[in-house]
Amino acid sequence: MKLSRTITRTILTTLILTACTPPSPGTPAASPTITASPTPPTPSATPTLTPSPVPSPTPNPLFAEMASLRGVNFGNALDAPAPGAWGVTLTRELVLAVRDAGFNAIRLPVRFSAHTGPAPEYTLDPDFLATVDEVIGWVLDAGLTVLLDLHHFEALNQNPAAERDHFLSIWDQLARHYQSQPEQLYFELLNEPSGELDADTWNVLLRDALAVVRQSNPDRVVLVSTAAFAAVDALDQLSLPRDTRLAATFHYYEPFEFTHQGANWVSGSSAWLGTTWDGTAEEEDAISSAFDQARAWSTAQNVPLVLGEFGAIEQADHDSRVRWTAAVARAAKRTGMAWFHWDLCTDFGIYDCDAGVWDPDLLSALLD
Ligand code: BGC
Repeated sequence: MKLSRTITRTILTTLILTACTPPSPGTPAASPTITASPTPPTPSATPTLTPSPVPSPTPNPLFAEMASLRGVNFGNALDAPAPGAWGVTLTRELVLAVRDAGFNAIRLPVRFSAHTGPAPEYTLDPDFLATVDEVIGWVLDAGLTVLLDLHHFEALNQNPAAERDHFLSIWDQLARHYQSQPEQLYFELLNEPSGELDADTWNVLLRDALAVVRQSNPDRVVLVSTAAFAAVDALDQLSLPRDTRLAATFHYYEPFEFTHQGANWVSGSSAWLGTTWDGTAEEEDAISSAFDQARAWSTAQNVPLVLGEFGAIEQADHDSRVRWTAAVARAAKRTGMAWFHWDLCTDFGIYDCDAGVWDPDLLSALLD
């Protein structure tokens, strides 16, 4: 069994969202960059009664950059307990296959927390870091954007206070290590905050982590996930500091009973086997309204969005997978988001890494 996750994301999400208090009106939300104050009125004998124009948010150039990204997750590779332990070994050839198929970005999930020395330094294992460097180098050499994601830090979710220094030390080391890399390297602070790392706790910790990263990387694009396993419904509880190089990210796996049917790390999911996704008006509307809700948040906050993971497991009926994947990709494109399919070549895969063959239907569902 890959993960010891015993209750579903959906149930946990509901519990967490119910338990969380929304940010108080005084909480600093991600503030749009505001244009310079309006021109002062020209002195005149008659006082003008026209109200001053309301400053409008400056368009954030990061929106266009995000809207151009179409990517895939290199899942179950460096996020496994040890590289290769879950059957995926990354190579330059895989990167080139992804690029040649038409993707322009790769999300690289990495379990850094399993490769650190003892407190208080938590020094990252240089051999493991060299492995990550090599993969990042292949992706950048191929002309793709790479999103480096801190994945599977379960101890942080279980005990945020005890693991805070560990987390910040990892980011301090990574940020300094990668500070001279091209801007096509993005950082994602943490995959799927969950458990004890609820929205309020995460809103504090993410500011601390961002401050650590900004000491050495003032302009690098940084992604911040919503809480509750990166739920779209948790966007309203995300409080971001003012920073024009920040994007927010969420994951989309709804209906969970369809996308995770038979997943061996989700208890009870074998009962969902045989669930189809037919593309009925109601099913399509559920996707569209989730993405519209996300876009409304993004516009109001002036913060671009990244769909960091979406996919349907291989146990699901193939035609349903193709329909659902196309519908979600369409919704992401329509709402101007970067998107990354989960994953490349394991249980949610679209490619056979051994045979070097794409699933043509899933590939065109994503890219056409
Ligand atoms: C997890 C994977 C899992 C996927 C779909 C990812 O965030 O790391 O292990 O297969 O979500 O549930």
